[in-house]
Amino acid sequence: MQSASDQVITFKIVNHGTSEYETLVALRQEILRTPLGLSFTTEELEKEKSHTHIVALLNDEIIATAGLVIESSSCKMRQVAVSKKFQGQGLGSLLMNFCEKYAKEKGIPSIYCHARHHVVPFYEKNGYVCEGDDFNEVGIIHTKMRKNL
Ligand SMILES: CC(C)(COP(=O)(O)OP(=O)(O)OC[C@H]1O[C@@H](n2cnc3c(N)ncnc32)[C@H](O)[C@@H]1OP(=O)(O)O)[C@@H](O)C(=O)NCCC(=O)NCCS
Repeated sequence: MQSASDQVITFKIVNHGTSEYETLVALRQEILRTPLGLSFTTEELEKEKSHTHIVALLNDEIIATAGLVIESSSCKMRQVAVSKKFQGQGLGSLLMNFCEKYAKEKGIPSIYCHARHHVVPFYEKNGYVCEGDDFNEVGIIHTKMRKNL
């Protein structure tokens, strides 16, 4: 099995509408939507034109992704997905670090996400704290979680 920890992983921002964007959407579809029996709609993806799309690369392969939406006084992190064969090896945490550094450099004081209930421990290990009541999104329970930068 390939391991993320012993290989050179790079992070970069990709533009909406490029072939790399299509690849990151395919990764999200596989990891986040297909297990729920759902697909991204054209309207949903159109709305992402103003978002910041981050990918982790191993050589030229996109192995993880996250989206950032810069708001007036915080930043929403969304669509966090790590390729199956690289899960549980620290890559998701490295991706968090990249997103947090990016937001901090823009002077944004905090970052938040809507965490699927079963991955709350992952975000807690990365310093996020639950905020408010649980709610339903895409048919599953979510919790809002925030980290001060
Ligand atoms: C959730 C996800 C992004 C985490 O990335 P990852 O690379 O697998 O996580 P890491 O290896 O960096 O894990 C960091 C810590 O969080 C814990 N963790 C990771 N995923 C977890 C999970 N599903 N449940 C509980 N703990 C988890 C790890 O055990 C690790 O703890 P440790 O430091 O004590 O060993 C990734 O597993 C994934 O894409 N999962 C499927 C999609 C998904 O649920 N995305 C989140 C939507 S809100």
